[in-house]
Amino acid sequence: MTAVPPHSAVRQQYEMLPYPPVNPQDERHRLMHTWLEQLPMLNHYCFGGRQSFRDGFRALVAGGGTGSATIYLAEQLKHTDARVVHLDFSAASMDIAKARAQIRGLTNIDWVLDSILNIPQLALQPFDYINCSGVLHHLPDPDAGLGALLSVLKDDGALGLMLYGQIGRTGIYQMQELMRAVNRGETGIPGELDNAKQLLAMLPAGNWFKRCEDLWRADMASDADLYDIALHSQDRAYTVEQLYAWLADGHGLSLAFSAVHKGRSAYLPGLLLGRQHPPPPVLAKMTGQSQRAQYAMAELLSGNIMTHVFYATRSPQACAAYGDAALVPFFCNEPLNGPQVAAIFNQNGGEPFWLDHKHVGVTTVVHPGRHAAQVFQYLDGQRSFQQIFDLVRAEPASRAHGLSNQQLFDDFRSSYDILNAMERLLLRHPHAQS
Ligand SMILES: C[S@@+](CC[C@H](N)C(=O)[O-])C[C@H]1O[C@@H](n2cnc3c(N)ncnc32)[C@H](O)[C@@H]1O
Repeated sequence: MTAVPPHSAVRQQYEMLPYPPVNPQDERHRLMHTWLEQLPMLNHYCFGGRQSFRDGFRALVAGGGTGSATIYLAEQLKHTDARVVHLDFSAASMDIAKARAQIRGLTNIDWVLDSILNIPQLALQPFDYINCSGVLHHLPDPDAGLGALLSVLKDDGALGLMLYGQIGRTGIYQMQELMRAVNRGETGIPGELDNAKQLLAMLPAGNWFKRCEDLWRADMASDADLYDIALHSQDRAYTVEQLYAWLADGHGLSLAFSAVHKGRSAYLPGLLLGRQHPPPPVLAKMTGQSQRAQYAMAELLSGNIMTHVFYATRSPQACAAYGDAALVPFFCNEPLNGPQVAAIFNQNGGEPFWLDHKHVGVTTVVHPGRHAAQVFQYLDGQRSFQQIFDLVRAEPASRAHGLSNQQLFDDFRSSYDILNAMERLLLRHPHAQS
């Protein structure tokens, strides 16, 4: 390890406090999911819905920590010839990840104890997918880390990134600054933690960390969590606009944002303000702007986006295309089946209705189109749009009789858009992973 001094404060932190804290024994009774690594999502957003995850698929988890993304990927891929490389410079973290893999009997993981910055010198074969979650913002030069990742990414490969969100973490940076001042002269992690705990127990009500406590209370359960949030020595965050400037303008990457459990809906002012009905004129001013501008406004509007979770691809066409009749629509992250969704979309005789999705936190009016309920009736995760549309047209007394595929796609678009924005409805090629 040449690029990172062996005693860098960041490495020391993760040797002493592996992150996230996980008990390997828990692998015996649950599989932890990581949002971006769900293969159906990866396929939809990064591989046009055409990825089989066979044929030598290769994934790198860079700064994999205690192994959550590694284990989830390896578990999903264990019946294929795919391999997962887990790389981290913390031996203590990697030991936990290895113990988790061993308990699960996973043999499709290769372990690399090294720095991300050394990747170009490691003679690794190129990767189809690289996860780097919560890591680049801890490097002194995040762009150097990104460059190292891009050096081993296939041209048609994808990155899955999590980077801190600046607006949502406002109070955290004030707390970190305060703790740096308090801990001046303090030499060890235990002393720093002790000072933080004392202060946190008596923060005045006006303190920004205290005011926004609901955003991070769940992330302060252990010393590792507390150190990561309030005491990190190398930590920066990004606004949406800064991410676009860095990654899209600077590196030509296309970004597909997907907040955990919420998808794109967290970045769409039209859905964040969906309760306003009829929509006030100011909303049209917002929703009429570019996707990039809308996302930036949504971040300022909601104020609570603490992490930006997204895929980044070199190709602007990596996402499965709505409008291709050969693709199969399927539900993801959604317990309801086609007929159940059809019943909801038909509840008002096909007229606009209020959708109140408690789990995602979206309440909005949906304009279902004339044939959406029929489409959902036949949507079983196996039939292509072509097959579904043929069945819709063939129904006795169908109002869709004689309509073209294009007309049916246009009619279904608003229903697709809202469910897709919440990662409930995705697309795949018939022969690809569902
Ligand atoms: C906040 S943890 C995130 C762990 C994991 N990606 C996750 O999301 O659960 C950051 C991890 O990145 C690792 N890390 C930080 N800088 C690194 C570097 N330059 N090279 C390799 N690993 C690094 C740390 O050791 C730590 O395990």
